[in-house]
Amino acid sequence: MSGHAIISGGSSGIGLAIARQLAGSGWRLSLLARDRDRLAEAAELLAADGAMTVRIRSVDVADQPALASAVQDAVAALGPPSLLIAAAGMVVPGHFAELEDAAFTRTMAVNYLGSLYLVRAALPALRLARAPRIVLISSGAGLLGLYGYAAYAPTKFAVRGLAEALRSELAPEGIGVSVVFPPDTDTPQLHAERRLRPLATSRIATGARVQPADAVARAILRGIRRNRFVIAPGWEMTTLAWLHSLLGPLLHRFWFDRVIRACHRQPPTGPMSQITCQPAQDDGLF
Ligand SMILES: NC(=O)c1ccc[n+]([C@@H]2O[C@H](COP(=O)([O-])OP(=O)(O)OC[C@H]3O[C@@H](n4cnc5c(N)ncnc54)[C@H](OP(=O)(O)O)[C@@H]3O)[C@@H](O)[C@H]2O)c1
Repeated sequence: MSGHAIISGGSSGIGLAIARQLAGSGWRLSLLARDRDRLAEAAELLAADGAMTVRIRSVDVADQPALASAVQDAVAALGPPSLLIAAAGMVVPGHFAELEDAAFTRTMAVNYLGSLYLVRAALPALRLARAPRIVLISSGAGLLGLYGYAAYAPTKFAVRGLAEALRSELAPEGIGVSVVFPPDTDTPQLHAERRLRPLATSRIATGARVQPADAVARAILRGIRRNRFVIAPGWEMTTLAWLHSLLGPLLHRFWFDRVIRACHRQPPTGPMSQITCQPAQDDGLF
């Protein structure tokens, strides 16, 4: 499997880890992200990994005309893409009432519309490619709405909905679609968002295993090779992806709600973000 891969968010984290694993197998790579320096560093890394052709383009995925032009240029330079990966994303954790309106609109613009615009820009070229596949990166928060993710979770639900609709519509044309539910993954995004998570969010996430980005990228590429629609790296995400409708209400009722209650036991005296968790032995199931 090789050809041209266009990766939004290819300069960091999961997107870069996927690019690095494609680098040595003859793929021509187009990376799209905003920060030019990080893009240039990624290109150097990929060249050292054995990539013959790497194109970088600074673009904001929320800017539809700019993204369309970046995709057109990539296709003109390196041909129709066999792989289109929408990995650009952001997260602003926080309490619903305290988040700025802009956190909701910007996160939707980048995570959902950025994925949508990428697919719409690339679709005509995907129709000309050999064995084309679209890969949209959602999240565990695209399966369960979680405390502290009021701005993020809806964007990842939207990505999942888009992937399901595209899968049905594009299958007759021979265009494959995958949706990825990464677990907590060791990337700059995770490190940055951990500092902003409300305490209850951190406590709910405590049990979650953090996976290295290269392990998540390997699982994604394995899923792509097997033509999987749902790609859920690790047993926690696999279980959640298959059973979330059943498990969601149970997790909320018997685990998350108890953690959150423990965090709210102290009478609030200030903003929600200043409420601390009391030491509790019986906060959750685990
Ligand atoms: N890490 C996790 O635990 C985790 C878990 C579940 C899902 N995810 C999802 O996985 C995807 C990748 O996340 P990551 O953890 O690898 O994050 P990351 O290391 O922060 O990488 C994000 C990438 O997206 C690019 N990007 C962000 N905003 C952009 C914009 N407006 N326009 C163009 N590019 C943009 C960044 O480059 P610039 O900043 O230079 O633009 C960077 O290349 C995201 O969709 C994220 O929500 C991550």
